[in-house]
Amino acid sequence: MNSNRKVVLVGAGFVGTSFAYSLLNQGGVDELVLIDVNKDKIIGEEMDLSHGLPYAPHKMLIKAGDYDECKNANIVVITAGLAQKPGQSRLELAVANAKIMKDITQNVMKNGFKGVFIVASNPVDLMSYVVAEVSGLPKSRVIGSGTVLDTARLRYLIAEYIGVSSKNIHAYILGEHGDSSLVPWEHCYVGCKKITDIMKEKKHPMENLQRIHDYVWQAAYDIIEKKKATYYGIGMALNRLVRAVLDDENSILTVSTYQNNEYGQEGMYIGVPAIINKNGVKDIIELKLNEDDQKKFNHSCEIMKETIEKEITPILNEE
Ligand code: LAC
Repeated sequence: MNSNRKVVLVGAGFVGTSFAYSLLNQGGVDELVLIDVNKDKIIGEEMDLSHGLPYAPHKMLIKAGDYDECKNANIVVITAGLAQKPGQSRLELAVANAKIMKDITQNVMKNGFKGVFIVASNPVDLMSYVVAEVSGLPKSRVIGSGTVLDTARLRYLIAEYIGVSSKNIHAYILGEHGDSSLVPWEHCYVGCKKITDIMKEKKHPMENLQRIHDYVWQAAYDIIEKKKATYYGIGMALNRLVRAVLDDENSILTVSTYQNNEYGQEGMYIGVPAIINKNGVKDIIELKLNEDDQKKFNHSCEIMKETIEKEITPILNEE
């Protein structure tokens, strides 16, 4: 781990620059290098972000750079690629963005990168798989943002519903960062109390919670309909992930990580609770899913496996 906390960001679009702006405001990174195909854009972003430094809590060297900067970087964050259009699913971006991911990963690796990848480009479970396969790094060193943002949305909405700080809502979304995700409600807590017990005591139907998950499913579509893109929430989620790695936190976050049968599935990336530290994914937290939740999780994994077979593998096999 480089003692100088260095992050390289590939992709200076709305998501990447929102992530960069959150680093400027929260600190914790010594050096941030911006890479993008649009060279003018990264020079402009470098200038604009740097001019905020006098009012930032910590100094941070911000540079417009290129892939040679990856050699001594701790983390490479990838946000580049096409973004969802109104009404478009994340899965529809798979082929176009897989080609972009492959190219970016090859450029990073040929410059001697030995750190941790954090991938946000959508569909993020499949893009994380592409980065892992192309990089050849240990799977634990390639992390997808997965359902970290979905989980934040869920925690926020449950907090509003129950009237308790979102910091005390321990609820996790598993599966695809997309339409097939699921919430294992039996493993959700408000503080140290099961949320299912709270709903029983309040005499509130569990359907109220399922409706909250429906809002989470819809969130990105609704935001994109209204403001053309989502970027602040994912920018904060990426900041959270970078901090967990750089601070060697061993924090539990629902990232997209490689499955080795911890949930009865293998051979793809998908969102599960995992322990994150300086080496990436230290371990997956295995939850005992009930029959219905296991079926939903399996369905989500099937979608990933089918898309990998039909759309991703051919791209990986191309010279
Ligand atoms: C969203 C994007 C990051 O869910 O997929 O907002």
